[in-house]
Amino acid sequence: MTDKRKVRKAVFPVAGLGTRFLPATKAVPKEMLTVVDKPVIQYVVDEALEAGIEHLIFVTGRSKAVIEDYFDIQVELDQTLRERNKKAEIELLEAILPKAGTTSFTRQQAPLGLGHAVWCARDLVGDEPFALLLPDMIMKGEKGCLKGMVELYEQSGGNVIAVEECAPNQAHKYGIVGVGDKIGEGFKITKMVEKPAPGTAPSNFFINGRYILQPEIFPILERQERGAGNEIQLTDGMVKLSGAQPFAAYHFRGDTYDCGAKDGFILANVAFALERGDIRPSVEEPLKALLQSLK
Ligand code: G1P
Repeated sequence: MTDKRKVRKAVFPVAGLGTRFLPATKAVPKEMLTVVDKPVIQYVVDEALEAGIEHLIFVTGRSKAVIEDYFDIQVELDQTLRERNKKAEIELLEAILPKAGTTSFTRQQAPLGLGHAVWCARDLVGDEPFALLLPDMIMKGEKGCLKGMVELYEQSGGNVIAVEECAPNQAHKYGIVGVGDKIGEGFKITKMVEKPAPGTAPSNFFINGRYILQPEIFPILERQERGAGNEIQLTDGMVKLSGAQPFAAYHFRGDTYDCGAKDGFILANVAFALERGDIRPSVEEPLKALLQSLK
């Protein structure tokens, strides 16, 4: 029988060192860099909450303590805002504060790969399906990517991975899936390969960093050997699990920005700023002028 238990928990692997974004990430975690006026991680958490997630599990690492602080009350700030009667700011902070007891933090002690980071969350997830959101990727669409995945999951059960199309010459950078029969807003996955050698990818559909996985992935990750880049790869674990359980792909049709890279981060700032009624009027014309002035 295909497992369709409710997806209540989400895992955020936030232990990465952010080497693609130095020097900014020397002392500030990449997940705390701001897109417009919110840290990147807030966008990803908001996507999870929109999809009905009730508990947030962060797999952090040394030097990431500020992420835990961000999801707590900042007592001095709170007191000062109250003394000064700053109602809007107080409401803003209250709206993003997770309810007490709905966050958990554990540490990945060594950077052994995404598969290993996910495995570190096994006790906190327990024996139930969970969502996994890679915090580098933030998404903009009419419907949140994870919300669409949960809808597909309610139809398909099993495991669901979000995919998007990439240029064929970019496929070697990602996990790539093979395309089977249509199901809902996606298709059945026939194959998965992590970072295929150029010219060998089974399709142009890449895994964009959102997953709904069954807990049977954990014992597989526990005994797993190193894969691409000499890391314990999640994709290799999913390939093994796909021998026993179905995997469906959800075709996300919005825009995705890789905020772990400088270009993606800059584009995200521009795109999200232009979406904001309070910011667009003052940045749109200068941005157009700037682009027109380019030779
Ligand atoms: C990871 C996954 C890969 C996925 C990618 C999306 O790779 O292993 O399958 O396509 O995230 O960003 P990484 O970016 O950690 O190399």
